[in-house]
Amino acid sequence: MIEIENVRKSFGPLEVLKGINLTVTKGEVLTVIGGSGSGKSTLLTCINGLEPIDSGKIRLDGTEVHAKSTDLNKLRQKVGIVFQQWNAFPHLTVLENVMLAPMKVRGVSKDRAEEIAVKQLTHVGLAEKLSVFPSRMSGGQQQRMAIARALAMSPEYMLFDEVTSALDPMLVGEVLDTLRMLASEGMTMICVTHEMKFAREVSDRVAFFHQGVMAEIAEPDRLFTAPQHPETVKFLAATH
Ligand SMILES: Nc1ncnc2c1ncn2[C@@H]1O[C@H](COP(=O)(O)OP(=O)(O)OP(=O)(O)O)[C@@H](O)[C@H]1O
Ligand SMILES: [Mg+2]
Repeated sequence: MIEIENVRKSFGPLEVLKGINLTVTKGEVLTVIGGSGSGKSTLLTCINGLEPIDSGKIRLDGTEVHAKSTDLNKLRQKVGIVFQQWNAFPHLTVLENVMLAPMKVRGVSKDRAEEIAVKQLTHVGLAEKLSVFPSRMSGGQQQRMAIARALAMSPEYMLFDEVTSALDPMLVGEVLDTLRMLASEGMTMICVTHEMKFAREVSDRVAFFHQGVMAEIAEPDRLFTAPQHPETVKFLAATH
C-alpha cells in the first residue's frame, strides 16, 4: 500500500504539492490527470524517493520513504518508474539493456538476469527483438522495452509518467495495451496520463490535480460524467 499523508513540496518559492493525501491499495490502478505544472510528475518522483519532500509522509508498505534510516536503493526495487522517454544504452542490445539492472542492482547472475529479461521482454511482446539495438525499434517498442526493464526488477508498484505522450498516435495503442495487461494482472499502478479514454477504462480511481492540490478523486465513471470540482469540469471540457 502507498500512503501519502499531507505531503508538501516546494521548488524554491514555488509550492508544487500543497498537502496531498492519498492512499493507493494493493492491486489498485490509479490514474492522475491534470494540467501542465499541476504537480503530477513531482508526486511520482516523491513516491519513489527521487525527490525529497518538505513535510508530510509517504509510506510504502509501512516503510517511510523519506526517513533517514530508509535504504532508498532497496525501496526503489519495489517501485518501478517509467518516464516519457528512457534513453537505453545504444551499444547494448535490447536484451542486454533489460539485463543490466537486475545484475547491477539486485546482484543476480548473468544467466538468471537473462532468464528474467527474456521473460519480461516476451511479456511485453518483444520476444523477437532480443538481439536488436534500441535505435532499431519504434517508439512504442522502446517504451515497452522500458516497461520490461522496470518489470525485470520484480516491482510491487509501477509508476508511469505519461509513457505515451512522446509517441506517434499510431504507436500509443500498443503501449496502452501493455499497461492494460499489467492492470489486469493485478499490478498496483499509478499512471499519469493525458489519455482520458484509457483512464476511464482502466482505472479504479482517477485523481485530478490542479495547481499542487488534488482537487478531486473518484471512480472514473463518476469523475468523467459528473465532475464535482469546477476545475475538473474546465479541464475535462478542454480535453474533449
Ligand atoms: N526540479 C525542479 N526544479 C524547479 N522546479 C521544478 C522542478 N521540477 C518541477 N518543477 C516545477 O514544479 C511544478 C510542477 O511540475 P511537475 O513536473 O510536477 O508538473 P506536471 O503536472 O507533471 O506537468 P506536465 O503535465 O507538464 O508534465 C512546475 O511548475 C515545474 O516547473
Ligand atoms: Mg509531468
